Amino acid sequence: MFELLQTEGKARRGRFTTVHGKVETPAFMNVATSAAIKGGISSYDLVDLHCQVELCNTYHLHLRPGDDVVSDMGGLRAFMGWQGPVLTDSGGFQVFSLAPLRRITEDGVYFSSHIDGSHIFMGPEESMRIQSNLGSTIAMAFDECVANPAEYEYAVQSCARTTRWLERCKKEMACLNAAPGTINPHQMLFGINQGATFDDLRVAHMRQIAEMDLDGYAIGGLAVGEPAEDMYRIISCVEPHMPVGKPRYLMGVGTPLNLLEAVERGIDLFDCVMPSRNARHAHVFTRAGKRNLMNAKYTRDSAPIDETCDCPVCKKHSRAYLHHLFKAEELLAMRLSVMHNLYFYNRLMEDIRAAIEEGRFAAFKRELSRTIDRRI
Ligand code: GUN
Ligand code: ZN
Repeated sequence: MFELLQTEGKARRGRFTTVHGKVETPAFMNVATSAAIKGGISSYDLVDLHCQVELCNTYHLHLRPGDDVVSDMGGLRAFMGWQGPVLTDSGGFQVFSLAPLRRITEDGVYFSSHIDGSHIFMGPEESMRIQSNLGSTIAMAFDECVANPAEYEYAVQSCARTTRWLERCKKEMACLNAAPGTINPHQMLFGINQGATFDDLRVAHMRQIAEMDLDGYAIGGLAVGEPAEDMYRIISCVEPHMPVGKPRYLMGVGTPLNLLEAVERGIDLFDCVMPSRNARHAHVFTRAGKRNLMNAKYTRDSAPIDETCDCPVCKKHSRAYLHHLFKAEELLAMRLSVMHNLYFYNRLMEDIRAAIEEGRFAAFKRELSRTIDRRI
């Protein structure tokens, strides 16, 4: 169930209730691709980092350790030791971005594993069965994320197939949820809007899937190399056709500035590898801008990463210490910087929520946009 608590322009302050807990929106979902946040962050760390939802990947977990193993261990939440909601991506996007030698048919996608080269088939039914075995709170529909730039004719055909796949996903999930012994019989299904960078295709596709009464709606196929302005334009043209009473999820996005721009355009949920990936390369976010902790200017800098941050890392450690850990290639360098960056994202969303509640989101966004994206 999704309740809209407050709006400011198109920005929405909401509450998404799931069988595994409530999600206050707008929210950032923390990416744990193979049932682990990269950088050595555990599920109990995530509680301290104000994470609300973990996101895992069907493709990776199917290949290793196998969704049958996860199922036998009681599902992803039990396996990871995470009590809150988990969203699983369908494998659609990862098959297209990671697997070599893929062939798309009406049935699904034939591909070889990026781990051992074995031949695998995944279609809508397989993706739903795997996600049911994983027992996630929210399953994503199996879709095709069209490469950028795309030919118009190809995008038309691909969109139509993604819609047919969505119908198959919905049918299969209803069966799986009703079957005895299902780990999460209340598993929810989100549909994914595609249509490359073509506004007419995007709108037509959104209108089609909006009629299918799904538990939520995502915008996919973005942040695949198109300019940010294209992404903002597509959100703005699709948004009026997204159901008001369902959560709206922008997949794989993005920078802190992208999140502010998307919230302003009516998006509720996000996920991105950026905070963890950047941190592992010594790039940390602050409200005043981005820092590279490898920079020699931090050698004797006793300030925390961000003076305005109250994360467990900034409360204890200096830039000088983190600089040293990166130079010495200590694992702790990654762990501490990932912790800070995830907290930064989760905390940014908390502040966005408070700003919408108090009717000052526009001012909050204007103020932060001045500094948040620059390099310092
Ligand atoms: N993650 C980022 N973009 C996409 C997308 O278009 N489809 C899916 N399934 N996952 C994504
Ligand atoms: Zn911090």
